Amino acid sequence: MLRSYAVSFIRLGRPTEGERKAILAQLDPLLPSKSGDVNTELIRVLTYLNSPNVISKAMPLIANPQPPELPDWSELASRNSRYGGTVLAMLKNHPPTREIGYAFILRNMRTGWTLEQRRQYFEFLNQAAKYSGGASYPGYLSRIRDEALGNCSNEEREALAEITGENFNPSPDFPIHDPVGPGKAWELNEAIAAAGAKPNFENGRSLYFSAKCANCHRLGGLGGNIGPDLTSVPNKFDRRYVVEAIVNPSKNISDQYGSSIVLLEDGRVLNGLAVEGENTWTIYPMQPDAKEEIVEKDEVEAMRNSSVSQMPSELLNNLNAQEIADLVGYIMAAGDPKKFPK
Ligand code: HEC
Repeated sequence: MLRSYAVSFIRLGRPTEGERKAILAQLDPLLPSKSGDVNTELIRVLTYLNSPNVISKAMPLIANPQPPELPDWSELASRNSRYGGTVLAMLKNHPPTREIGYAFILRNMRTGWTLEQRRQYFEFLNQAAKYSGGASYPGYLSRIRDEALGNCSNEEREALAEITGENFNPSPDFPIHDPVGPGKAWELNEAIAAAGAKPNFENGRSLYFSAKCANCHRLGGLGGNIGPDLTSVPNKFDRRYVVEAIVNPSKNISDQYGSSIVLLEDGRVLNGLAVEGENTWTIYPMQPDAKEEIVEKDEVEAMRNSSVSQMPSELLNNLNAQEIADLVGYIMAAGDPKKFPK
């Protein structure tokens, strides 16, 4: 029945106020149900109908997560060592998936929250971020949080700033050192030759952060998502390609990641990776430390692809030859110490 309501609203649009009241009177008392599946559908329909009670009934469910119902994924995990490792790590530290689903639906409720309920909501997301998921898990949580924040009032956002500014990406638990150098302006062939030396795993991993790669790329579960996840690079490319991608980023630009030049109606020009949302474009600028800009689609006057990679080109120039070997060796081993050359 709940699915029928949901499908009817999608197909036929919103019910009249009288219908809405009648359906709320029927459905409101059913939440919470003993069944998680029923709760998910109830919260979905009640949220759509803007039930005045859905927040106060769903928040206790979210704030007190039940042990997750685990599918039998161990067989799947054993099929592939690369993705299998991620699945096994998740099974060991499984996120509260059911409650994340409730929170995902509730992000759309604009009004009817007390500040305490808002606080509970964002604290739940912060807790959920401590569990393990797939590579996109922190990104999904961040987007739930950002959309829920978009539905908060300015006063609420201000009051909650301390708990919502959190970076959901896990941070490294090993020491990171600056490159020792001395660097130089590496030519491609020199850099390829340097990358052939025997690498050191710890040093490569540290350089992955101190040479800024982690600002934009994930590898081994850590790092940003401006550029492609490098975990599968060794499946696709050889060492030469990787060195070339670093020395000469604009030579081959992977198609999903080309940058755009965006002209806005107010005359401003933005340059960066453009990611499309429903009504907005998010532009991630070239500088890894710069903050992304969100613009409404109707503010955009024109947009075209840029032939310049988003990736800065002189990143290797602080590194000495052995450090190049360490960094490239770390990437070719996909961040996995077991695959590291002995
Ligand atoms: C400012 C963000 C940024 C930084 C910092 C950065 N990259 Fe990139 N990188 C990108 C983007 C965006 C792409 C995809 C566009 C392209 O292919 O040029 C890319 C592409 C790559 C590719 C090619 C991947 C493929 O699938 O073709 C490799 C390899 C790579 N980067 C390695 C590195 C390494 C190693 C570092 C650190 C020394 C680094 N990157 C630093 C943004 C960055």
